Amino acid sequence: MLDVEKIRQDFPMLNGTTMHGKPLIYFDNGATTLKPQCVIDAVCDYLTNYSGNAHRGDYDLSHDVDTRFEHTRDLVAKLINCDRKEVVYTYGSTDSLNLVAFGYGALHLQKDDEVLLTVAEHASNTLPWFEVCQQTGSVINYIDLDNEGRLTIENVKKAITDKTKIISIAQVTNVLGYDGPIKEICKLAHDRGIIVCVDGAQSVPHQSVDVKDLDVDFLAFSGHKMCGPTGVGILYGKYDLLQETSPTRLGGGSNSRYNSCGSVKLKNAPTKFEAGTPNIEGVIGLGAAIEYLMQIGMDNIHEQELKLRAYAIKKMQELDNLEIYNPNGQGAIAFNIKGVFSQDAASLFNTYGIAVRAGQHCAKILDEFLNVSQTLRVSFYFYNTFDEIDQFIEVCKKGDDFLYAFFG
Ligand SMILES: Cc1ncc(COP(=O)(O)O)c(C=O)c1O
Repeated sequence: MLDVEKIRQDFPMLNGTTMHGKPLIYFDNGATTLKPQCVIDAVCDYLTNYSGNAHRGDYDLSHDVDTRFEHTRDLVAKLINCDRKEVVYTYGSTDSLNLVAFGYGALHLQKDDEVLLTVAEHASNTLPWFEVCQQTGSVINYIDLDNEGRLTIENVKKAITDKTKIISIAQVTNVLGYDGPIKEICKLAHDRGIIVCVDGAQSVPHQSVDVKDLDVDFLAFSGHKMCGPTGVGILYGKYDLLQETSPTRLGGGSNSRYNSCGSVKLKNAPTKFEAGTPNIEGVIGLGAAIEYLMQIGMDNIHEQELKLRAYAIKKMQELDNLEIYNPNGQGAIAFNIKGVFSQDAASLFNTYGIAVRAGQHCAKILDEFLNVSQTLRVSFYFYNTFDEIDQFIEVCKKGDDFLYAFFG
């Protein structure tokens, strides 16, 4: 059982007030999470006390930076159970997924090859594949979701053909919040020589993810969705696959030599992908975030969030003015207040200091499944409370009475 009241003391934004003079109830953790003081301190410490470049200098300061910058790689490796040389620093999930699509996909896909996605994917796991398929003459196919919006192994089996080369799917989707059967999918795919790229943006922050156990080929995630800074993310790749992947950016730091004739010798993975000065404070802040999360325990975090979700669903189902699209998911809750435009509803929540997301949540083809163009989304993190959910429910009850709340 987590001591949530104690944990909340770690987050300055949970101890202030919003622009509306009310305490912040932050239910948009799928978009980004709040930052604990230890992360803020780690970033400030770097900026204040040792802000040299990484992997560039031969002086003490530079050594300090390198040590702490590389320490994050060890922490990531521990978090997801891989080798440190399989951890690539990127600028976020989007950047990581683009690297897989353009660095691996563009090199390995041929005309008429097939890439499997679902309509529940985030734009960052859709648009890079659209582009790479267009460039290579390969084809996108969609794995059907079941009638609740889940990804099932049966439907993956149905979608695979002998042309399938890559499956790229979210472990937990960002609107419907279902946890896909990744381990089974990897087994099925690998038996047929298919590569599996997993978008872990909504899973790695919330649960234990063991890449060896799942046997995923690539895994992408973002620092800012797991208490870390923005502008930093991770691409995990099996080492052999990373070696077969081309960097999509070239420049300083990624090569061991080159000459005026254009002959270039790149360094091995992961360094060959990390050209240019990286987001050093971001990487160091991410390290602090991972230490913080591991101290709380990923299983404890997951358990707490499942309890929060179950409680919210139960309370929401007691109201007859809500349409809930994924009562049985495990991540975000997608819903609408009947007859109310989602952005109007989000504005109403905002007046009570409650941050919820409205719209399409960067999953713009999911409406083909949901048959609704916009939804509200609440997404919890371990620092949220049952009391916050009660306050949220009270605002849900106001429903289409929101005009009264604004102007009444
Ligand atoms: C499932 C999923 N994939 C990818 C992304 C993109 O993450 P980022 O914006 O950090 O690159 C998000 C962000 O919301 C997401 O939810």
